[in-house]
Amino acid sequence: MPSSTPSPATRCQRLKAASHRDHDSVDTLVMAARPFADRERYGRFLQVQHRFHGSLLGLYHDAQLNDWLPGLQELSRFAALEGDFQDLALPLPATPAPVQVEAAQALGWLYCSEGSNLGAAFLFKQTQQLALDASFGARHLAAHPHGRALHWRAFVEQVDGLALQREEEAQAVAGAIAAFDHYRSHLRAVFGEECNG
Ligand code: HEM
Repeated sequence: MPSSTPSPATRCQRLKAASHRDHDSVDTLVMAARPFADRERYGRFLQVQHRFHGSLLGLYHDAQLNDWLPGLQELSRFAALEGDFQDLALPLPATPAPVQVEAAQALGWLYCSEGSNLGAAFLFKQTQQLALDASFGARHLAAHPHGRALHWRAFVEQVDGLALQREEEAQAVAGAIAAFDHYRSHLRAVFGEECNG
């Protein structure tokens, strides 16, 4: 019998396995964009974040998704992000068009967005070189009051605990991949060639 790699046990592990390549390419593009080289570049990074988190605002406030994931609406970092624009006296971009997807697919988008809080620990540290912090300019990258790990584990537990149909599982995976794809396209739109390494 041919040996095969067992599929990961939990939903979030499967989302991670299906999207880790996309994550790594986004991570590489962000670093190539040098968003912490100076405040001008950081301002552009804020625009990328605004496009992404702004387009997810509707999902964070969606009634069915809040039913599935109680407390979801408190997790959006969009208000903190707008605070960062104000701190730095940057003009606020228009709120982006909302992502319109079915609930199962939205789980993948939210997985991508919430998981980005983990890598944000690294990004948050880098903002120190621009003299920014949790109360000025880097609010949206700051840790959740209960800590990043605890908060992430609680989100993962909620997502893993949902009962989904087989086709909904596939939609969640497609959602995570689409979310990384969108993030990549925002990076390219804002930084152009500069984030292509
Ligand atoms: C330079 C940019 C980035 C770096 C260095 C980075 C780094 C990391 C690291 C180190 C982790 C694992 C943390 C841990 O397990 O404790 C992580 C997790 C994650 N990151 Fe990033 N990240 C970056 C950007 C992003 C972006 C832009 C997104 C989404 C748009 C994202 C989405 C995720 C997700 C979903 C996870 C959770 C993976 C899982 O455990 O299921 N990351 N990141």
